[in-house]
Order: sequence, then structure tokens, then C-alpha cells
Amino acid sequence: MIRRVSQAQSLLGLVELPPDKSIAHRAALLAALADGTSRLVNYPSAADPQSTLSCLRQLGVPIYEDAHGILVVEGRGLEGLRAPNQPLDCGNSGTTMRLLAGILAGQPFASTLVGDASLSRRPMERIAAPLRQMGAVVTLTDGHPPLYVQGCRPLRNITYRLPVPSAQVKSCVLLAGLFAEGETTVIESVPSRDHTERMLGLNVVELNGERYLTVQGGMRIPARTWAIPRDFSAAAFFLVAGTLVPDSEIRLPGVGLNPSRSALLDVLRAMGANIQVENERVYGGEPIADLVVRSSTLHGVQVAGTIIPNLIDEIPVLAVAATCAHGRTEIRDAAELRVKETDRIAAMAENLQALGARVEVFDDGLAIEGRCRLRGTTVRSFDDHRIAMAMGVAGLVAEGETLIEGAECARISFPGFWEVLDRLAGRPIPANP
Ligand code: S3P
Repeated sequence: MIRRVSQAQSLLGLVELPPDKSIAHRAALLAALADGTSRLVNYPSAADPQSTLSCLRQLGVPIYEDAHGILVVEGRGLEGLRAPNQPLDCGNSGTTMRLLAGILAGQPFASTLVGDASLSRRPMERIAAPLRQMGAVVTLTDGHPPLYVQGCRPLRNITYRLPVPSAQVKSCVLLAGLFAEGETTVIESVPSRDHTERMLGLNVVELNGERYLTVQGGMRIPARTWAIPRDFSAAAFFLVAGTLVPDSEIRLPGVGLNPSRSALLDVLRAMGANIQVENERVYGGEPIADLVVRSSTLHGVQVAGTIIPNLIDEIPVLAVAATCAHGRTEIRDAAELRVKETDRIAAMAENLQALGARVEVFDDGLAIEGRCRLRGTTVRSFDDHRIAMAMGVAGLVAEGETLIEGAECARISFPGFWEVLDRLAGRPIPANP
């Protein structure tokens, strides 16, 4: 699908963002392993979190919606999963594949995890290595999916220092640790999103600038109600759009503001953005607030170092903000972007250059010379939801019309994204886009 986005005069309105994808995957997985029936309030309809549910159903976990739209998950306990009779299809979702692999490593059966073309190109040795150390047999093809896991119970407990700052690898090892003898410890020197340790209620020790996370093998997971806040990563597109388009005011109620996720807010503010944080509160064990963004003028910044994992998914849209900022913005230490749903460094550079931006590419990031005049043209999503949506934001500021090829992939994390853009810009919503 090609989506046409034209330059907007202003963006006005309120956006009810989709629920947080990272928290949703974890809530579903923990509910499946819990003793008893859990309820998930605001489970996202987006494709990635739905992939986690369909894999869990194949593993014998009853999951259904009740009359109030709440997702009910009948937990099977740590020992109750059933061998799947087909490969588990993780779709586009790296989080589904990597976290589920940790659980499957501790099962007394074999399973195969597969994904779409994009997921089939992503590196899996990073989870295979620790799972093998724990005693599972894990087979890949050139380091990529399909991922075959012959589980083993109990697994060996390990102490694992993360070689890459990755919440997915961290979570994979911690979930496998539930099926290990004794204590499994993950050491991270660069903090990544902390939902897994929060949701499991793990003991976290900070020592010499490193975080030690320990899970007790066999730890029972109680059934409970999980409430899922709205996704900061989805808010990011509107924080940037509302800043760049003149005469704008966008309200974003109930957005998750976990500090390990929300670094883009600090970076945009340091660039000069006008974002108000109102009504701060706690929802589902996570800090949330209402955000209000109004147009403002930005200046370039340097973004590098330990902050990167806390805004890794927001870098494509940050690069769009940088094209409109005065001066140079440099984003470094972000080589992980090359192994996301697509190579996000190459994809953003190609698309922004096509719009007329001056972009320098590094192995681990991008530099953008700001305040360029963007002119609408045809750009590509590279079948990556965050690239598609970032280019949607660029289309709101580029002169004329921007055509985004493969725009339908926004449904991976944000069904209805294009309609929300049209509504904020005061345009009629196409009946059949
Ligand atoms: C995620 C962690 C991040 C992020 C991804 C979701 C998670 O990946 O990019 O979209 O939910 O744990 P890495 O941990 O591999 O960096």
C-alpha cells in the first residue's frame, strides 16, 4: 500500500495511543506461566503482540476475550505448556521469538520458531549462546531463524554478562532462569528497558556501575491482573510531529514514562521542544502521565553512549526531527539499529536524502545537518513499521506530497496510525486507503 502524506498547516487534537508492545508481550508470557487465571487490561490489537498470543495458544494456553474486552489467560504454571504440533510463527516480532525461546529452552520438548522475511534475517546467536550454556540444544541457520530449540529441564544456572545491551537477550536468559536449578544472574553494564525485572519483581543490585539481576529457578508466578499503559514508542511520532508542524497542539493521555524507555523526551526537550508532562501517576506498576506537545523550534544535539538503549526505537523519528533543527545532530553508538526490522541507519539515510536532507552515515549512527528544506517524493518503508511512521511524520513537514511505499506495516505496532495523522491534520480520512 502506498500512503500519501501532504504537508500539514497544523496538527490539533488528542490521540489515544496503542498499549505498550513491550509490556504486552511480557504480560502475556508471564500470565501463561502463572498459576491460575490472569486478566490483561488493554491488550494491544497490533500484529506483534498478537503473534505472542498465537504462539502461546499453540503451546496449549487457553486465551480469550471476556465480555468487557479484557484478555483472559488461563495460566498453565511453569510445567504446563504442551509441545506444539507445528512451527511457532512469530511473524515480524523479535521480542516474541527471543523471549519465547528462553521459555522453550526449559521445556521437556522440542519446538521450532519461525518468522517473516525480516525476522528471518535477524541475529539469533545472541540468545542461542546463553541458552546452550544453560543446557538447551539450539540450532540456527547462519545465525538466523528458523530457531530449533530442544529444551531441557532443569537447565543449568549461569551468570551471564550481556555482550550487547539488549532487553530481549536479558529477558530471554531471565525467563530461561525460571527453569534452571538455583539462581541465574544477568549482568548488564548498559541499562536497557527494565520491564521484565519489574514484572517478575526481581532482585536488582547495582555494583560498580553494573546491574545484577537474579532470578530464582522454580519461582512461582502468581496469576494477576496486568494493566498495560499506552506506548511511549508510539507517542514518539506525535511528540516529533507536534513539535515540527507549526501551530500544533497534540494531547497524548496516559503514556508510559518508564525512565528506561523515555529518553527521547529528554532529548527533544534538550533540543528545545515544548512538551508538558501532566498528571503523573502509576498504572500497572509503571509510571505514566499525560503529555501535551506544542510546536517549537529545535536545535541540533549529540546523542550517544549509555542513553542509546533507552531511545533505540525512537531514533528513526528523532532523525526526522534533526532535519528541521538548527545545526548538526549526531547520533552514535547505535549500531544495534542495523539489526532491527531493517537496517534503520541505511533506511533512514536513504529516505531522508531522497527528501533533500544532508545525512552522513557511520557504522554506528547518523549525522544530520539541520534546517533543510524537505521536498516530498517517494520513500520506502523497508517493511519496517517505525521507518514507515517516521516517514509519515517527515511527510507532514516536507513540501508537497510524500508517498510512502509499504505503509501498511504500521499495523505491526500501531493499527490506525495513518487515520490518526489525517485526523490531526484536519483532512478527511480516505474511505479505502
Ligand atoms: C524490546 C527491546 C529492544 C527494542 C524492541 C523491543 C523489548 O530490542 O528495540 O523493539 O521489548 O525487549 P533489543 O533489546 O534487542 O535492543
